[in-house]
Parts: sequence; C-alpha cells; structure tokens
Amino acid sequence: MTLDRLTTLRELHRLKAERERQAAQVRIQRYRTDPTAWINERINEFAWSKQREIMASLLDHRRVAVRSCHGVGKSHIASRVAGWWLDVHEPGEAFVVTTAPTFPQVRAILWRYIRQMHKRAGLIGKVNQTEWSVDGELVAFGRKPADHDEAAFQGIHARRVLVIIDEACGIPEQLWIAADALTTNDGCRILAIGNPDNPSTHFKQVSERGTNWHKIRISAFDSPNLTGEQVPPELAEMLISRGWVEEKAEEWGTDNPIYVSKVLGEFPTQDPFAVVR
Ligand SMILES: Nc1ncnc2c1ncn2[C@@H]1O[C@H](COP(=O)(O)OP(=O)(O)OP(=O)(O)O)[C@@H](O)[C@H]1O
Ligand SMILES: [Mg+2]
Repeated sequence: MTLDRLTTLRELHRLKAERERQAAQVRIQRYRTDPTAWINERINEFAWSKQREIMASLLDHRRVAVRSCHGVGKSHIASRVAGWWLDVHEPGEAFVVTTAPTFPQVRAILWRYIRQMHKRAGLIGKVNQTEWSVDGELVAFGRKPADHDEAAFQGIHARRVLVIIDEACGIPEQLWIAADALTTNDGCRILAIGNPDNPSTHFKQVSERGTNWHKIRISAFDSPNLTGEQVPPELAEMLISRGWVEEKAEEWGTDNPIYVSKVLGEFPTQDPFAVVR
C-alpha cells in the first residue's frame, strides 16, 4: 500500500470515529434526562405510565424500590433501564450489574429482555448470555453470587454504576449490602423490583416508610387493562388482565395474603406461603 493511500485510510478512520463521537454526544444530551424519549425514539417501544414513572424516578433518586403485582412489565422495563443507562453515558463511565435469586432467573428473564432489546435496537457492543461488552471491555453483567457474599460485586470501578435487583424478595441482606457498597457516590443508582410476597425479607424493610429509598407500588388495578389507559394492543395483550384478577379474587379471596401480594402489589402482614401450607 502506498503512503498516500495509508494516509487517506487513516484520515477516513479518524473522521468515522469523530462522527461516531459526535453522534454519541447528541444522543447523550438528548436522552440522559428523558428516558421516555429514549424508549420511544431510540428503541422504538412504548412504555406504560408506571414503567415511565420507574425510569423517571431514577433521574432524581439514588435508590428505587418497586413492589408490584405480577405481569405488569417490571423485568421488561428494568432491562430497558439497563440499556438506557449504558447508552446515555460516555463510554467507560457507566457500568450495570444485575442480579436475581437464581442464575437461571438472571439469564432467562432480565438478560433475555436485554438481548432482545440490544438486537432489535442495534445498540453498541456485544451481548451474550449475561454479559455486555463494548470494544472488548465489559460494561454490564448479570450475576448470582453466593447468598452470604458481601464482597460479591467488588472490583467494579466506574463513576456511574447501576445495580438492578430483580425478584428482590429472594435476595438476602448480604447481597443488598454488596450492592450498596458499589453505589456509594451520587452518580450511582440501585433499582430493586419484585413481587412483595414475603414480609420477612430485606425487600420489605427497604419498602417501608421512613427508609431513604424512593418507593413505587404497582397494583393490578393501576395497570392498563384495568384502568383503560391507552397502550398499543400488542402490549395490552402481554400485561395482567382483568379476567385473571377476577379469577384470583374468587379463587383466593381478596383478603388472602397471596391476593394482597400478587394482585395488589403490597406486602401481606403474614407470609402467604405459611398460609398456603
Ligand atoms: N413496554 C413494553 N413493551 C413491550 N412488551 C412489554 C412491555 N412491558 C412488558 N412487556 C412484555 O410483557 C410480558 C411481561 O413482562 P415482565 O416479564 O416484565 O413482567 P413482570 O412484571 O416482571 O412479571 P413477573 O411478575 O412474572 O415477574 C413480557 O413478555 C414483556 O416482554
Ligand atoms: Mg419479572
């Protein structure tokens, strides 16, 4: 290759990198404070009102606990939060850690949604079963550390760490401590989501009044198929239905702790499984 050709190639490469850098800057400016626009425009999806509330709450609150009924799209939106977080920060600035009570849950729930989003929206980098890397550098992973491991997530050094805890009732206190240790500066966030089915858990403690967690509750009665909120029909089809709610009221009774947890999205005073037993 001649020297001239080499210089031209280098110049083209430099211009491409510069264009990409400028595009990333525009994206960061536009979407960092507007996650709903990110969902609509960048990944071409629709989020219903409580999903938008969860995303928006992370702009102002370092720690957000979402207790919710079943099937309202909480794991789905948590995966979008992960994508948004990585997309609206400078490369190398942000890191996402996700966890759940079992490794199959990490891989088959949140990371399945992350993989779908990454592929459909053509986001940067590569995503495998439970890891996301950009230019060979890890930017997110899902883990299920040993329950007693307070040092579980040590070694992550990024200015803006986001920890996502899915199925939060099944996460023992030590792992909450490990998550907390990762998110000590103002730019970090923890999002814990789950069905409030066990009142003797750390998730219950953080969801109680008086803690400095921002709390969001989602009852089935807040969801689009029960309120009439307008959402695309293909989304409505995926979310909890009025029929299911009515069936469970009949089957369990509305004062049953299982109904309180799985339909109303509230911690029952008794352990529902103790009642079942
Ligand atoms: N905004 C959305 N756009 C498209 N699909 C969505 C959206 N929100 C949720 N879904 C789909 O609805 C289904 C249920 O969502 P998800 O698994 O997140 O619910 P969940 O509240 O976490 O349920 P569970 O209580 O079982 O954990 C999934 O197939 C998910 O992909
Ligand atoms: Mg879920």
